[in-house]
Amino acid sequence: MDSTLSGFTPIGATTLLAPLPVVLVSCQGTSPDLRIPNLITVAWTGIVCSNPPMLSISLKPQRHSYRQILESQCFCVNLVDRSLCRATDYCGVKSGRDINKFETLDLHPLYLPDFDAPALAEAPAFLCCRVSEIKELGSHTLFLANIKESYVRTTLMSDRQVNLENAHLISYAHGQYYPVSPSSLGFFGYSVARKKTLKRRTAKKR
Ligand SMILES: Cc1cc2nc3c(=O)[nH]c(=O)nc-3n(C[C@H](O)[C@H](O)[C@H](O)COP(=O)(O)O)c2cc1C
Repeated sequence: MDSTLSGFTPIGATTLLAPLPVVLVSCQGTSPDLRIPNLITVAWTGIVCSNPPMLSISLKPQRHSYRQILESQCFCVNLVDRSLCRATDYCGVKSGRDINKFETLDLHPLYLPDFDAPALAEAPAFLCCRVSEIKELGSHTLFLANIKESYVRTTLMSDRQVNLENAHLISYAHGQYYPVSPSSLGFFGYSVARKKTLKRRTAKKR
């Protein structure tokens, strides 16, 4: 292996982190001009803390959803599968300022008790988030949020565990959508697992 930089091309300070989750963030404001439920496609998102469970999304201030979330201080992060891929792209190029994306795409808002943002009924899973901190970064503003509750489609549960093997989730890498392969390469910690554990965990999969 050549351990010099000769095999690499410098491409500058870029956001080339891949693959990324791509999600549909659902939200709704409270004032009349922001009240129509909306969906925005977001790739700048990630889990940032497990206890308390927290995530972040980064939005440009010109987004309609930015104003809605600023007003309601909450949003849902909806995971997306293959069947939602086209809608995901569409919600990333059309603004809720001009159209009702739920209606146009024949998607359905799911209203949750005591929560000021709808979820996406067609999503395989969603996380209900409440904003805890807002930080202007430059082109994007970071919304740090506490995950208050999460829901997963019951068909994706097995033995009381979430099993995403058959969820057909999609990811995003450098401008393209990709399927997340259902065949697992290993479980968390498999590289250091004892033979007995490996055997048990692998047998369970079959
Ligand atoms: C794959 C993809 C990922 C995107 N990620 C983000 C993002 O992380 N933050 C953001 O502000 N806009 C992002 N966008 C752009 C918005 O989704 C887009 O501007 C959308 O039309 C805004 O809708 P709104 O005006 O209803 O809020 C993304 C678009 C696509 C297609």
